[in-house]
Amino acid sequence: MWPYPKVLAHRGGGTLAPENTLAGLRRGMAAGFRAIEYDVMLARDGVPVVLHDPFLGRTVPGSGHVYDYDALELAAMDAGSWFARDYEGEPVPLFVEFAQYCKAHGIWMNIEIKPAPGYELETGSTVARIAAAMFADDIGAGRLAQAPLLSSFSQVALEAAREVAPQLPRAFLMSELPPDWERRAREVDAVALHVNQRHLTRAQAQAVKAAGFGLFCYTVNEAARAAELLAWGVDAFCTDRIDLIGPDFAARAGG
Ligand code: G3P
Ligand code: MG
Repeated sequence: MWPYPKVLAHRGGGTLAPENTLAGLRRGMAAGFRAIEYDVMLARDGVPVVLHDPFLGRTVPGSGHVYDYDALELAAMDAGSWFARDYEGEPVPLFVEFAQYCKAHGIWMNIEIKPAPGYELETGSTVARIAAAMFADDIGAGRLAQAPLLSSFSQVALEAAREVAPQLPRAFLMSELPPDWERRAREVDAVALHVNQRHLTRAQAQAVKAAGFGLFCYTVNEAARAAELLAWGVDAFCTDRIDLIGPDFAARAGG
C-alpha cells in the first residue's frame, strides 16, 4: 500500500538548512534521510526550478515573480543567505540537476508540483515528463517504488501529469479534507492523499485508509504527534525537525 519511506525531510533539510537547495538536501542526508519532499515550479523559459514561493523576496533576494526570470538567471541567484551567511551563494537548483543528484544518491523523492497561478497545466506536464524520462529505467524494470511520487494541490497539474506520464503515481494534496475528497482523488487516479496534519482527525485517517489510499501528512514537527498519526494509520509524513524526528522514527515507533 505504501511502498515508500515513511519519514521524509521537508524541502530537503527541513529547518536546519536553506529549503529547496542542494545544501539542504545534503543536510538531510547527513541526518540519515534518504527521502525528501521538495517544490518545483516553472521559470519564464519553461524550465522547472526548485523553489517554494512563486515570487522573489523571501528565500532569494529581489522582486517580481519566478516566471519573470529565466531558469539560469534564477540559478545564479543566492538562495542561501536568507538562512545564514554560511550558505551565501547557494544556488536555486534546476529541477533536472536536483532530481539527478537525488537519483544518483538513492534519495527517494516526493516532488510537489507547485505551479504559479495560471501555469498549472504546463507545470504538471513538464515536471511529469522529465521525471518519467529520468526514471524510465526503473519504471521499465517494474521498480515503481524507486520512481518519484508526484503531488500537487492543483487538480489541473495532476491531470496534466497523468496525461504525459500515466505510469508515475500521483498524490492529491489537500490542506483540509473536503467532503468530496474521495471523488476528487479518484478523478486524478491518485494513489495517496497528502494532508495537513493540523486538520486531520482519526476518523478521517481511518476513512482514507479504508478507501484504499495511501495517507501522508505534512508537516509533522513534534514526536508525540508523529507517533499519534502513525498509530491512526497514517503511512508517512514529512518533517522540518530532522534533528528531532529521524528517518527511522516510524520503525522505532512501531509504525
Ligand atoms: O508537500 C507537502 C507540503 O510541502 C505542502 O505545503 O507549502 O510546505 O509546500 P508547502
Ligand atoms: Mg511542499
